[in-house]
Amino acid sequence: MAKIVSLLPLYLLLISSFVLPVKSFDNVTDMYALRSFKSSIYGDPTGTLFSWNHSLHHCHWKGVVCGRRHPDRVTALNLDSLQLTGCISSSLTNLTFLQRLSLSNNNLIGSIPEELGLLGRLKFLNLSENSLSGNIPSTIGNCSKLKVLHIESNHIQGTIPSQLAQCSKLTYISLRENFLIGTIPPILGNLTNLSVLKFSLNNLNGTIPASLGQLQLLETLLLGFNNLFGEIPESIFNISSMLVLSLPGNQLEGSLPSNMCDTYSNLRSLYLSDNQLKGLIPSSISNCSVLGKIVFAINSFTGIIPSNIGSLKNLFVLEMSENKLEAKKPSDWSFIDALVNCTLLEVLNLGSNQLQGILPNSIVNLSSTLYEIGLWMNQFSGSIPAAIGRLTN
Ligand SMILES: *[C@@H]1O[C@H](CO)[C@@H](O)[C@H](O)[C@H]1NC(C)=O
Ligand SMILES: *[C@@H]1O[C@H](CO)[C@@H](O)[C@H](O)[C@H]1NC(C)=O
Ligand SMILES: *[C@@H]1O[C@H](CO)[C@@H](O)[C@H](O)[C@H]1NC(C)=O
Ligand SMILES: *[C@@H]1O[C@H](CO)[C@@H](O)[C@H](O)[C@H]1NC(C)=O
Ligand SMILES: *[C@@H]1O[C@H](CO)[C@@H](O)[C@H](O)[C@H]1NC(C)=O
Ligand SMILES: *[C@@H]1O[C@H](CO)[C@@H](O)[C@H](O)[C@H]1NC(C)=O
Ligand SMILES: *[C@@H]1O[C@H](CO)[C@@H](O)[C@H](O)[C@H]1NC(C)=O
Ligand SMILES: *[C@@H]1O[C@H](CO)[C@@H](O)[C@H](O)[C@H]1NC(C)=O
Ligand SMILES: *[C@@H]1O[C@H](CO)[C@@H](O)[C@H](O)[C@H]1NC(C)=O
Ligand SMILES: *[C@@H]1O[C@H](CO)[C@@H](O)[C@H](O)[C@H]1NC(C)=O
Ligand SMILES: *[C@@H]1O[C@H](CO)[C@@H](O)[C@H](O)[C@H]1NC(C)=O
Ligand SMILES: *[C@@H]1O[C@H](CO)[C@@H](O)[C@H](O)[C@H]1NC(C)=O
Repeated sequence: MAKIVSLLPLYLLLISSFVLPVKSFDNVTDMYALRSFKSSIYGDPTGTLFSWNHSLHHCHWKGVVCGRRHPDRVTALNLDSLQLTGCISSSLTNLTFLQRLSLSNNNLIGSIPEELGLLGRLKFLNLSENSLSGNIPSTIGNCSKLKVLHIESNHIQGTIPSQLAQCSKLTYISLRENFLIGTIPPILGNLTNLSVLKFSLNNLNGTIPASLGQLQLLETLLLGFNNLFGEIPESIFNISSMLVLSLPGNQLEGSLPSNMCDTYSNLRSLYLSDNQLKGLIPSSISNCSVLGKIVFAINSFTGIIPSNIGSLKNLFVLEMSENKLEAKKPSDWSFIDALVNCTLLEVLNLGSNQLQGILPNSIVNLSSTLYEIGLWMNQFSGSIPAAIGRLTN
């Protein structure tokens, strides 16, 4: 079967040299480009490209969409999740009307052809979940209409090209889970329409550019699991549209602004674990009123856990283990009484902190949705109330 598939392009090539006129019409440019694309795909176990033959007009080939005004010109190529094996042919650059190129979740290898940057009408590029390597071509800056750039989960190397900042219409960039090095170009702060920026799981270093604070429509910022250092710029806490801020697994320092939640009123998730952050849990935390997940584990946060945390009605994960949080007097434990109001709470981890004194009995009244309580490596005393058995999960 594999052999037959791999011979198919050759077979088509032979047929075509007899059947087609040598002179190429404008209306066949895209057909040639698609055929050339097909010839660089050598594995097609679902037989999708079988329909790419002469008995059908190329606009009817599977995954191919043509324009209304230019009926022979390809405007979209949608070939996701088809187990296609092979390379991305640079011939795609001849699909000059292409607006959408989606080749995600296949087994594509090789590099991203530089020529893709010449697709001036391209709005959507999804090459995620392949095994593409090489650099992100700097020609990408020529895609002035590009809105979505999704190259997650590949083997892309090199640095983030600063030319990306020329694609001023970008709203979504994910380069997550690659092997990118170097720093985050500060010029990306010019992409003022960005709502999603995902660079996590790479080898980026340097600091988080303060210019990212200019992204006033940003909803999701994922920079976790890199080698970023320095303080989180204050400007990042100034983005009122922020829903998910995720910066775990770096070497970030400094403390969180106490008024952080005065701006972050829409924040749903805050992941800051495994850094070198210190200082107090922001006293304004109750103003992040829709916050559901707080993950601060493995840092050096100090002070008490503010009891106004109990007003976060959506809170379901409070993970604060391996910090230097304190409880000395009974009132320092009042956060447990307050958390009784968090009826969605599932995880409460306060292990490896400096909680002293008597464990309050109100712990038995925490939500029965709890499935994990971590209180290991602290210095509190007293007995564990028998009624803790009420927490049936
Ligand atoms: C291109 O145009 C020629 C001449 O009008 C026509 O014969 C041919 O079928 C067209 N081919 C395609 C692929 O549209
Ligand atoms: C061309 O593709 C169509 C649609 O998949 C298929 O029915 C037909 O058998 C194919 N023809 C050849 C010669 O492979
Ligand atoms: C684009 O099309 C032209 C004309 O058909 C051809 O000469 C050229 O090689 C094509 N470019 C690529 C990168 O395939
Ligand atoms: C890109 O493709 C992946 C895998 O098929 C999919 O999960 C993701 O939603 C796509 N991205 C966009 C922005 O549509
Ligand atoms: C692409 O960008 C380069 C420099 O950024 C420029 O020289 C070139 O003319 C551009 N090409 C197109 C087709 O826009
Ligand atoms: C940003 O988006 C808005 C609304 O979609 C649009 O009007 C504006 O032109 C975009 N800005 C840029 C620089 O593309
Ligand atoms: C950042 O990474 C680059 C490339 O790996 C390296 O050359 C540079 O020394 C690193 N800089 C710092 C401050 O770690
Ligand atoms: C970034 O934006 C600033 C302010 O709008 C502008 O002065 C600068 O030229 C832009 N840089 C680039 C490379 O577009
Ligand atoms: C935060 O935003 C306000 C108003 O939008 C602005 O005046 C202030 O300079 C910003 N602060 C930082 C640190 O970016
Ligand atoms: C919450 O925000 C309001 C309005 O901005 C402010 O008056 C109040 O002090 C804030 N609460 C806390 C605990 O910071
Ligand atoms: C729990 O919620 C009730 C009703 O909203 C409120 O009266 C009470 O003060 C809250 N308790 C704590 C400890 O926040
Ligand atoms: C638990 O809640 C019940 C009913 O709301 C209340 O009567 C009881 O005093 C609480 N127990 C503790 C230890 O706070």
